[in-house]
Amino acid sequence: MKITIIGAGNMGGAIACGLAKGSRVKPCDITCSDRSGVALEKVSGKYPDIRTTTDNREAVEKADMVVIAVKPWLTEDVLYEIKSDLDYRRQIVVSIVAGITFEHLTCFLDKEGEEPPALFRLIPNTAVSVQNSMTFISAQGASQEQTDAVVSVFNELGATLLVEERLMAAGTALASCGIAYAFRYIRAAMEGGVELGFYPEQAKDIVLQTLKGAVALLQAGGAHPEAEIDKVTTPGGITIRGLNEMEQAGFTSAVIRGLKASCQ
Ligand SMILES: NC(=O)c1ccc[n+]([C@@H]2O[C@H](COP(=O)([O-])OP(=O)(O)OC[C@H]3O[C@@H](n4cnc5c(N)ncnc54)[C@H](OP(=O)(O)O)[C@@H]3O)[C@@H](O)[C@H]2O)c1
Repeated sequence: MKITIIGAGNMGGAIACGLAKGSRVKPCDITCSDRSGVALEKVSGKYPDIRTTTDNREAVEKADMVVIAVKPWLTEDVLYEIKSDLDYRRQIVVSIVAGITFEHLTCFLDKEGEEPPALFRLIPNTAVSVQNSMTFISAQGASQEQTDAVVSVFNELGATLLVEERLMAAGTALASCGIAYAFRYIRAAMEGGVELGFYPEQAKDIVLQTLKGAVALLQAGGAHPEAEIDKVTTPGGITIRGLNEMEQAGFTSAVIRGLKASCQ
C-alpha cells in the first residue's frame, strides 16, 4: 500500500516514521509532502527511504491512501488543491484533523457528478511517535476491505478503536487531550515526591514505574480499578487516608469536569 501524508509536522511526521518503523508499509512506499523543508528533513533524516516533496499534487498521484495532517484552518485549501488529482474510485482519504467532520470533508472534496471517495477520520494522540497511540477511527462510504486496511495500517502505531463519528469528540477528549491530563498527574505526583524527599529525576522514575505497574495489573487481570484499590486500602490505613484527602480536594470531579470541558 502506498501512503502519502500531507503535512509532515508533529503528527504527520510521527505517523510517517512510525509506519516506516513497522512492517506493514515499506518506507519507500511512504511519501511526505509539506511546505516546510525543515519538517521534511526531520523525516528523511530518520528514514532516508521515505520520499519527500513540497508538491502536494504530485505527492498524491500514486497513493492508495492520502492522509491529511495539516492544521484545521488549512484543510479546505489543501483538499481544494489536490482534489482534481485524486481518483475517488481508487484512493482513500484519511483526515487526522481535529474538528473537521465528514460533512466538511465531503463539501471540501466535492466534484460535480462524482461520489466522494472512501473517507476516514482518525484521531491519534502524540504517543503515535512511540507507536503507542490510542487512535479512534471513523469511516464514511468505505467498504469493509478499505476499513480493514486502514485499521491494520494504524494498528502498527498503537491501539485503534472503530467508532461512529458522533464519538470522535469524546475520543479526542479522553485520549488526545487525555494524554496531557496523564502528564499533569505525573507532574503533580513528582512534585509531591520531591516534597517527600526524592530528587525530581528519582520521583519521575518512581511515578512512571508505579503507573506502568498499575496499567500492567489492569491489563493482566481485566479488573475494575476500584477492585485493585481495595487491595491497597487497609481499613484505617494510610492509602485510604490519602485517597479521601484527594477526593475532598475534588480529584474525580476535576478529572470528569476537565474531560467534559475538552469535549465542548
Ligand atoms: N497534536 C495532537 O495531539 C493531535 C491529535 C489528533 C489530531 N491532531 C491534528 O493533527 C493535525 C496536525 O497537527 P500537528 O500538531 O502535526 O501540526 P503541525 O506540527 O503544524 O504540522 C502541520 C504541518 O503541515 C504543514 N503545512 C501547512 N500548510 C501546508 C500545505 N498547504 N501543504 C503541505 N503542508 C502544509 C506545516 O508547515 P508550516 O509549519 O510551514 O505551517 C506543518 O509542517 C491538526 O489538524 C490537528 O488537529 C493533532
